[in-house]
Amino acid sequence: MSYHYIKVLVQDRIGIVTLHRPEVLNALNLQLVYELVTELERIETDDSIRVIILTGNEKAFAAGADISEMAGEEAIPMLLKDQFVVWDRIAKISKPIIAAVSGFVLGGGCELMMNCDMIIASETTRIGQPEIQLGVMPGAGGTQRLTKAVGKVKAMEMLLTGEHITAEEALKFGLINKVVPVEMYFKEALRMAQQIALQPPVAVRLIKKSVLKAFDTSLAEGLDYERNCFYLLFSSEDKEEGMNAFLQKRKPKFTGR
Ligand code: HXC
Repeated sequence: MSYHYIKVLVQDRIGIVTLHRPEVLNALNLQLVYELVTELERIETDDSIRVIILTGNEKAFAAGADISEMAGEEAIPMLLKDQFVVWDRIAKISKPIIAAVSGFVLGGGCELMMNCDMIIASETTRIGQPEIQLGVMPGAGGTQRLTKAVGKVKAMEMLLTGEHITAEEALKFGLINKVVPVEMYFKEALRMAQQIALQPPVAVRLIKKSVLKAFDTSLAEGLDYERNCFYLLFSSEDKEEGMNAFLQKRKPKFTGR
């Protein structure tokens, strides 16, 4: 598949997707988001890929939706086009996605980052939801996912002032996993991806689904879901392999069956 605005590299069971519109700080036009979702769904069906890294460049992960594309939009055509149906497909990807971010992570860029499962950031990262300064508000989950991640008062502050926060502050509020020097952020994401790529893929998939379940269900329903996933894994060959390897004091070799 040939893309305009993303680059794709597969190495060691890891699919690396790079946003590539550097001249506009990776502003997310509709075509870029469409290409990204198309590639994520392709990876989803590719058994040789176990984990995904989503990244940009040192200056920007993404500075938000493309303002020049949005500026001429009107409500009803936007509603009929409903671009967020495409965004919703990102949340359905069952393989873990690690965001490796640096520089500007703003607006739709922050919403895209929050769709990922783990986030490694460089020290130079600036995160924000500045839509209010454009007279609008987030539309791809910013008010919901940010609030669930950092809590009400910090989310209100970020969304109502539009100010950016540093990576250190984002770490303090639980929005990201780790802050590292700029020359390390991609390497650190790769290290994490390599670790996850060695784990049994069916367990990885069910753990991701189970964690995401916690966001939109009651505790009782979530526990019930987790329990069923737990029992299901006892029918996998990887459960036999994992437990036998422990008892035989050797490293397991998981196959995904
Ligand atoms: C289109 C953008 C852009 C954007 C930057 N550019 N952000 N183009 N959409 N979101 C372009 C600039 O126009 C400029 O192009 C080039 O990228 C470099 O940007 P500068 O502004 O010159 O860089 P700098 O002075 O370093 O400032 C960086 C910045 C600023 C602070 C990130 O660009 C900025 O405030 N951008 C907008 C951020 C934003 O409001 N994001 C939210 C968008 S709304 P030229 O051609 O002049 O060189 C949104 C809604 C989400 O995301 C809804 C769901 C999808």
